[in-house]
Amino acid sequence: MRTYRIAAIPADGIGPEVIGAGLEVLDALATRSGQFALQVETHDWGSARYRRIGAMMPEDGLAQLKSADAIFFGAVGAPDIPDHITLWGLRLPICQGFDQYANVRPTRIFPGVESKLRDVGPGDLDWLIIRENSEGEYAGHGGRAHRGLPEEVATETAIFTRVGVERIMRYAFERARARPRKLLTVVTKSNAQRHGMVFWDEIAALVAADYPDVTWDKELVDAMTMRMVGKPRSIDTVVATNLHADILSDLAAALAGSVGLAPTGNIDPQRRFPSMFEPIHGSAFDITGKGIANPVATFWTASMMLEHLGEPKAAAALMTAIEQVCAAGILTPDIGGTATTRDVTRAVCDAIRGANA
Ligand code: IPM
Ligand code: MG
Repeated sequence: MRTYRIAAIPADGIGPEVIGAGLEVLDALATRSGQFALQVETHDWGSARYRRIGAMMPEDGLAQLKSADAIFFGAVGAPDIPDHITLWGLRLPICQGFDQYANVRPTRIFPGVESKLRDVGPGDLDWLIIRENSEGEYAGHGGRAHRGLPEEVATETAIFTRVGVERIMRYAFERARARPRKLLTVVTKSNAQRHGMVFWDEIAALVAADYPDVTWDKELVDAMTMRMVGKPRSIDTVVATNLHADILSDLAAALAGSVGLAPTGNIDPQRRFPSMFEPIHGSAFDITGKGIANPVATFWTASMMLEHLGEPKAAAALMTAIEQVCAAGILTPDIGGTATTRDVTRAVCDAIRGANA
């Protein structure tokens, strides 16, 4: 029996509600399989800690997480604290400190969930967006001068390094190769951004030579939004910069029904550090404490975590359970249902217990 060490950081807003639900489901899976166990250590880091002692996490936070096999993260953000403090105080230091340079964002339409696209149902849309997660437009490079004066200036410089672009490109080609269609779209804006984005195109072509079995094409990011809406079946795996993929993945989540369904993994493909898995919806203060948060994004996130840990059977069993529950119409209000977080969690746990896997 393998035991995996999971560091849970539920943090803010609906984070504790969905992570609690996710841990319940993981527990049901572990019990069902009898092959693995999870040893969960929960950290009470986040905005409440910031209000109490002025820091989102302890100074040795990364050292505390380092020996975990994976990090299971809820959400950060609070209405009374500026976003850049909560984000740069907890989530980004983990992503950057553990060099989780690949952000993986799958999108699918679940049975029973209505896509925002007409005539598109389960099976028609199965995307994997790979977001560069360590540099690009979110490198934090830039500054401000002459504050408050008429001549004030601010710069926000995107950083693209050969190492950074090449490693995300290789990762994307690998992921595309592992999927049935072996199809990759490289997204840039190289018509207008003639330095960094042309560099992306060049590196894409170089890396592509090592993957002759993967079919690839290029798309400009603006045209990509239209293609996602107009020709969703023409897309499989997508790789894009930090900013472009941030935007495209929100569009993808909305097209598939709701951001309440969208998972993500912040991955260190070299496995030098623990990778971090989180739902992408954020803290959602408007529904915090109401018990109606959609836990499906977190369940899918948990499935990605199991896959990463090397438990593909449990990962697949969880996806099957989610699909059964969605198909049965047990849906939270964000996707048109009346079920609560508890109802969905209980139904998914029941589906897992009833499964033969
Ligand atoms: C996401 C989120 C974050 C991001 C925000 C909160 C900075 O939108 O995970 O996509 O862009 O990284
Ligand atoms: Mg985003």
